[in-house]
Amino acid sequence: MEKQRKVILSFSDRDREPIEFPILSGTTGPDVIDIRSLHGKSGMFTYDPGYLSTASCTSQITYIDGEAGVLLYRGYPIEQLAKQCDFLEVCYLLLNGELPNATQKTKFDDTIKRHSMVHDQLASFFKGFRRDAHPMAVMVGVVGALSAFYHEAMDISDASHREVSAYRLIAKVPTIVAMCYKYNIGQPFMYPRNALNYVENFFHMMFATPAGDYKLNPVLVRALDRILILHADHEQNASTSTVRLAGSSGANPFACLSAGIACLWGPAHGGANEACLNMLGQIGDVSRIGEYIKRAKDKDDPFRLMGFGHRVYKNYDPRAKLMRETCHEVLNELGLQNDRLFKLALALEKVALEDEYFTSRKLYPNVDFYSGIVQRALGIPVSMFTAIFALARTVGWIAQWNEMISDPEYRIGRPRQLYNGAVKRDVVPISQRK
Ligand code: SDX
Repeated sequence: MEKQRKVILSFSDRDREPIEFPILSGTTGPDVIDIRSLHGKSGMFTYDPGYLSTASCTSQITYIDGEAGVLLYRGYPIEQLAKQCDFLEVCYLLLNGELPNATQKTKFDDTIKRHSMVHDQLASFFKGFRRDAHPMAVMVGVVGALSAFYHEAMDISDASHREVSAYRLIAKVPTIVAMCYKYNIGQPFMYPRNALNYVENFFHMMFATPAGDYKLNPVLVRALDRILILHADHEQNASTSTVRLAGSSGANPFACLSAGIACLWGPAHGGANEACLNMLGQIGDVSRIGEYIKRAKDKDDPFRLMGFGHRVYKNYDPRAKLMRETCHEVLNELGLQNDRLFKLALALEKVALEDEYFTSRKLYPNVDFYSGIVQRALGIPVSMFTAIFALARTVGWIAQWNEMISDPEYRIGRPRQLYNGAVKRDVVPISQRK
């Protein structure tokens, strides 16, 4: 029987006894120090703003090795999934832990199709927004509003209710994202078509109109399918941690995903693809790359190279490599090989990866660096990029939420703090205050 490995915390102040903490190991990746007894035994908390050294949960869904640039969904390398599977296959894998066989895939695809329409009353919510509202503002509201439509299946302790909520979200979020776009451009909403597959349907709802036929391009459909696979899940990132924390109070999954969408919107997170494309537009020309690299390195300048750097990846984000390949494919298919922004992005990447500031800090392109260029080439407007990211991450959020709620040991998340505010003092009547 292997001896339990442990850490012994000893204190420099002599009168405190050392405390022992067990070391826990997963199937792979870093071990953790189980400090759950720390406060009870010492009256102290750990201090880790930004959670750089904190494991918030156990999980079997996604594994990242940031040093090696490895990303596995349920043990399968992202490179293999992106090339050999479609997005709904990956959704099935993330939800169930195994890839579907042919029968299971057909059944899953049909189930998702049957949930792709939204309640017609949901369309009324859009009328309350300005036409030029940011799609993520609409997404936060409308996805959260789904909570008002499924009272018959909101008992989160019931696995069948959690399952149907997962199907509803995976199926309806693309419909809602397309509705955001149609509302923004003043075109009528397009209903989903069951004759189409998941991504074909999304293109149809985004770009078809009642006035005529819409011709799908299989290369573009495959490209977007791959983009969705690359964004589907990513361990305990900020928005997933938001969904878990919201879910830990027992909130319904629709409300939890609305919170996740709100967090993803930030430019340091999912908003980076929109910010990256805007940045490339701002740089404008290869001749100005040096000026912006200089700004990115200047501590007094808030400008950062959007699409570069990552909290976990201290090597190339494997998704960025696949995204760059997809970029080539799409631009070649569309005869845009000389796309100005793509050439600018390639040049910017080359300059940054030869610059000591970036290499010494292990700042490499992340998933957002190329995704904006591909999406723009697919005809998706910049303002919709993060909504597409939310569409893809819906399955990751709901799989992680379900994993937490299914764990009988889960409890409400409630971090503590290092308080450095005013100590206890008495109120002075206003007449005596200076
Ligand atoms: C996503 O967590 C996930 O998994 C997220 C995600 C997912 O799939 O869910 O992968 C999706 O959010 C990708 C990241 C998208 N964000 C961006 O591209 C925005 C630009 N990147 C940075 O804001 C930053 O790199 C973060 C937010 C991504 C990571 O921030 P960290 O880990 O807190 O890194 P840091 O800020 O501590 O940086 C370390 C150093 C600092 O310099 P020093 O203080 O050491 O001198 O690197 C510098 C930073 O100033 N730095 C950058 C930089 N990113 C970090 N300098 C210039 N440009 C950058 N992009």
